[in-house]
Amino acid sequence: MNHSLKQQIEQIVGRMAEVIILDEQGCTSEVSRIMTTEGSFILKSVTKEKYRSWLMNEAKVLKDMGRQKSIPLPKYIGFFEDKHSSHLLMSYEPGSTLTAAIHKAESESEKLVLIRSFGQFLNRFHMKEVSAVVQNDGDWLKRQLSTAREYVEGGLTSGSPQLLRFLECNKPDPVLQTIVHGDCTTDNVLVLDGKAHMFIDVSGMTIGDPRYDETLAISHFHDNPAFLHAFYEGYTRYKVSREEVSYFEGLYEFF
Ligand SMILES: Nc1ncnc2c1ncn2[C@@H]1O[C@H](COP(=O)(O)OP(=O)(O)OP(=O)(O)O)[C@@H](O)[C@H]1O
Ligand SMILES: [Mg+2]
Repeated sequence: MNHSLKQQIEQIVGRMAEVIILDEQGCTSEVSRIMTTEGSFILKSVTKEKYRSWLMNEAKVLKDMGRQKSIPLPKYIGFFEDKHSSHLLMSYEPGSTLTAAIHKAESESEKLVLIRSFGQFLNRFHMKEVSAVVQNDGDWLKRQLSTAREYVEGGLTSGSPQLLRFLECNKPDPVLQTIVHGDCTTDNVLVLDGKAHMFIDVSGMTIGDPRYDETLAISHFHDNPAFLHAFYEGYTRYKVSREEVSYFEGLYEFF
């Protein structure tokens, strides 16, 4: 960490006693835990241009939605940028990711309890009355497809132009838009005391198509009927069809 960033952070959260790069990292950033005289914090750092704009959005979501207090999220502390990198400082939240918790669970029934609680957590989230929480800035799917097109044209994605064309021409019939996480995999949900309790990695959180969240939520356990069943014991508001899953998995390839 460079001197200027360290100074800016210490001005807000006190002198750093320890900085630990986490074992569990995502694909887009480097995440460190910072212990200071004031407590424990997470610093998420990004250098790639595409991911810098995602991180800026994540900062905005934490800041704006944090004020509402109705959605459990890490607390926004600060956002810092220099010429080549961006850094988001937020509260360190206890627990582990749902992916890690499922992996560590000692029995099948413990795994099922976790997955059911994830279903319940996502169900509650999608049912939130959100008009006051986030602005609805138009057609979510249209925006996703147009961002996907920019990425294809800029060579910023592994999704193919053919797939994009298919998605543009075969949009599913619309459903009621809700608040969505936008990258709702088991990697981006924290578990505490055996229950899904908080979202992280929230740069895509907005009003959108809940079938995208649902598709990503079940993406790790498609082939496991017991896990799917447990998820849908908790997530009762809708059940995506095979075609919808295939459409939204296709969309995910661009991000
Ligand atoms: N506020 C937090 N409190 C505790 N741990 C956190 C927090 N934010 C992130 N982490 C940890 O850091 C890891 C990576 O975080 P995150 O998912 O935000 O990064 P990412 O690089 O954006 O991931 P992705 O590749 O999914 O975009 C998480 O799996 C989690 O273990
Ligand atoms: Mg992540």
